[in-house]
Amino acid sequence: RVPVPALLKRPVDLIVRPDHAHHARILMPGDLFAPERHNSAGIEFGERAALDRLLADVKAATPDLKPVADATPRQADAAIMAARAGFAGWSRTPAGTRAAALEQAAHLLESRGAHFIALLQAEGGKTLDDALSELREAADFCRYYAAQGRKLFGSEVAMPGPTGESNALAMRGRGVFVAISPWNFPLAIFLGQVSAALMAGNSVVAKPAEQTPRIAREAVALLHEAGIPTSALHLVTGDGRIGAALTAHTDIAGVVFTGSTEVARHINRTLAAKDGPIVPLIAETGGINAMIADATALPEQVADDVVTSAFRSAGQRCSALRLLFVQEDVADRMIEMIAGAARELKIGDPAGVATHVGPVIDTDAKQRLDAHIARMTSEARLHFAGIAPEGCFVAPHIFELKDAGQLTEEVFGPILHVVRYRAETLGHVLQAIERTGYGLTLGIHSRIDDTIEAIIDRVQVGNIYVNRNMIGAVVGVQPFGGNGLSGTGPKAGGPHYLARFATEQTVTVNT
Ligand code: NAD
Ligand code: ALA
Repeated sequence: RVPVPALLKRPVDLIVRPDHAHHARILMPGDLFAPERHNSAGIEFGERAALDRLLADVKAATPDLKPVADATPRQADAAIMAARAGFAGWSRTPAGTRAAALEQAAHLLESRGAHFIALLQAEGGKTLDDALSELREAADFCRYYAAQGRKLFGSEVAMPGPTGESNALAMRGRGVFVAISPWNFPLAIFLGQVSAALMAGNSVVAKPAEQTPRIAREAVALLHEAGIPTSALHLVTGDGRIGAALTAHTDIAGVVFTGSTEVARHINRTLAAKDGPIVPLIAETGGINAMIADATALPEQVADDVVTSAFRSAGQRCSALRLLFVQEDVADRMIEMIAGAARELKIGDPAGVATHVGPVIDTDAKQRLDAHIARMTSEARLHFAGIAPEGCFVAPHIFELKDAGQLTEEVFGPILHVVRYRAETLGHVLQAIERTGYGLTLGIHSRIDDTIEAIIDRVQVGNIYVNRNMIGAVVGVQPFGGNGLSGTGPKAGGPHYLARFATEQTVTVNT
């Protein structure tokens, strides 16, 4: 195997040109604030000025943080009925017009980038890096689904048939789609779900996470401004009880959900128990994501990729690394390097330009994570504990487990669990990954082709990353989503996503 180019040749962050959403231009680690490295990555020095302007605009932005009232069950019901009325007009709107509205939304998002970045920081606790990449992802979703939608919904597909008969297949919206989203990508996932459902010709009732309603409110206002009729898109705020009321409603035609496996199961049961039409569920959920690093891996690269995968976004990504399997022969050295790299992370104010790890979402999350750290401190070997400032922060931790089975559930924060394995027991590692029941992301660090291929062949995991970090799937480049307890598919940001939001109709005419 040709060694993967050294660290500095590896893309870790992507700036996406507004006009070519997924033709990404590559920035290198830390480049945003290290102009002297731009040249080595082929990026013009002039961009520093643009970034400086953006930073000044983010600082000057004053997002509206006034509380958002929760909807009542009656308002939730009214939103569904209004969306039902709006469906007829929106589903007959030409696909090109629907796509143009989403493209305009992407344009508006970018032109108000500083405002949305400031809002993502203030409400979602996002670091600058995370807020910037979330903004890009949100715009990418709008443009990507617009482009896919023009192809899928733009015209019927003529099917073969005998002489004297014409056959055509058309895709159309299902009706009212309920879109329920999590707080950890309050703009990108929210807009990804909503834009896909709208592009497919559905009207939408969107229920964002209770922790991040302001971002959702502004995203919906932006979509309306971009040309989505108010009758086709409705926002309903509130917690899980309102989400449950929406999914139990008899007049919905589909649910797209991103969040925990437990809630996905609950929604699945609700939909199955209802009378009336069978309502499809698209669910994207969590994972106990693993990485396998064998003795042939580049230790510096592993350290960098592990720290990015486990601790970026304070570990609050469904894709984040939770369980690192390291080959015994190199384990001491690798763990030491990973801990050394983790020690360099700056934890604190998400608005700080140099911050790597911001806060966790709320005090409930902090309490859960602190309890897990306390349990691990008595049950596992502590290799590293960062120091968190006062407030809603959890510092990165690294624990070594005797057995992968000690980690029984998704721990949604900056806590890495390491397990050693011997080369001859790689099969046990794969069994342990299988036993979790999840299948979202997997990292492999190895220079041996046969090992890589054998692992890929064996695991049922949605997104596999070889010799790089395992977060930050790019729309249209790395379609994202998992198997088993991690979700139903189809993959967000992939070519098959929109079709699941639609029905198909075949018309046969005797000519
Ligand atoms: P969550 O499941 O607690 O909540 C998600 C959404 O569901 C929220 O809007 C919530 O109000 C709503 N909800 C809660 N109970 C409900 C019910 N009974 N009926 C209907 N809706 C209900 O998840 P979270 O804490 O917001 O997000 C973190 C989780 O999301 C993690 O498990 C993470 O792995 C997962 N996630 C998955 C992906 C993916 O693409 N696979 C992406 C991001 C997050
Ligand atoms: N799509 C997000 C990632 O890949 C969750 O990190």
